[in-house]
Amino acid sequence: MSQDLPFYIPVGNEVALFELAWKHRLPLLLKGPTGCGKTRFVAHMAARLARPLYTVSCHDDLTAADLTGRYLLKGGDTVWSDGPLTSAVRSGGICYLDEVVEARKDVTVVLHPLTDDRRILPLDRTGEVLRAPDDFMLVVSYNPGYQNILKQLKPSTRQRFVAIEFDFPPPELERGIVATESGLPEARVQPLILLAGRLRALKGHDLEEGVSTRLLVYCATLIAAGVDLREAVQATMIEPLSDDPEVKMGLEEVVRAVFG
Ligand SMILES: Nc1ncnc2c1ncn2[C@@H]1O[C@H](COP(=O)(O)OP(=O)(O)OP(=O)(O)O)[C@@H](O)[C@H]1O
Ligand SMILES: [Mg+2]
Repeated sequence: MSQDLPFYIPVGNEVALFELAWKHRLPLLLKGPTGCGKTRFVAHMAARLARPLYTVSCHDDLTAADLTGRYLLKGGDTVWSDGPLTSAVRSGGICYLDEVVEARKDVTVVLHPLTDDRRILPLDRTGEVLRAPDDFMLVVSYNPGYQNILKQLKPSTRQRFVAIEFDFPPPELERGIVATESGLPEARVQPLILLAGRLRALKGHDLEEGVSTRLLVYCATLIAAGVDLREAVQATMIEPLSDDPEVKMGLEEVVRAVFG
């Protein structure tokens, strides 16, 4: 494997599944909590397959034209400009739509003919109908944890994807990931992993989401830079999780139980 791939440690069979989905021209849906490695995984796979990656963070103002493209005024002329989805289709790249449930309905209309066996992208504005080359792949992700019921993907959309569920890496792997990302030795990362496990167990009671691998990397990075352990924990594993004083007190209790 090449040295300059974005660092990613596989947790299950996701690398093989991604490669198979790509090879067989099947779109992929990744679901999982915030900060568990979905974006990093897609970056890693795009580099591994040597395909260009077009990433779009979806939000409720995102229109189909933001993905497909639009005519722009350039020096008195109107010139067509491809959006990221169109660029990915034209170049045989990977288009990654992050938080796809946030996108408006007209976006899913664009995705449907691309994600069944037609694999076409009709561009109404230019009159073109692009046929996706074999190299093209659509990957979408979302976090099922904090979606309200209205924002769930329609069955007709979700049933167009091969889906992989992500979660935080198991402790042995997460320790290695956090150590590599932060430069903090594994022995010093270990208690943070233990703490994260305890904090994650509180999810659902008072917390919407458990502490993410991303926050663990932040914590270890601060500690490696010389910040006091307690201060780093407060700033990365308590404050970002909640604003509620009672919930924070509960979290601090867990910290005391682990670190004494
Ligand atoms: N398996 C892994 N291998 C390497 N790094 C990982 C892995 N899992 C998580 N990470 C680390 O966690 C960080 C957060 O991951 P990432 O940004 O991919 O999360 P995400 O699932 O896309 O979150 P969000 O839903 O908030 O976008 C990465 O920057 C990386 O440092
Ligand atoms: Mg992400």
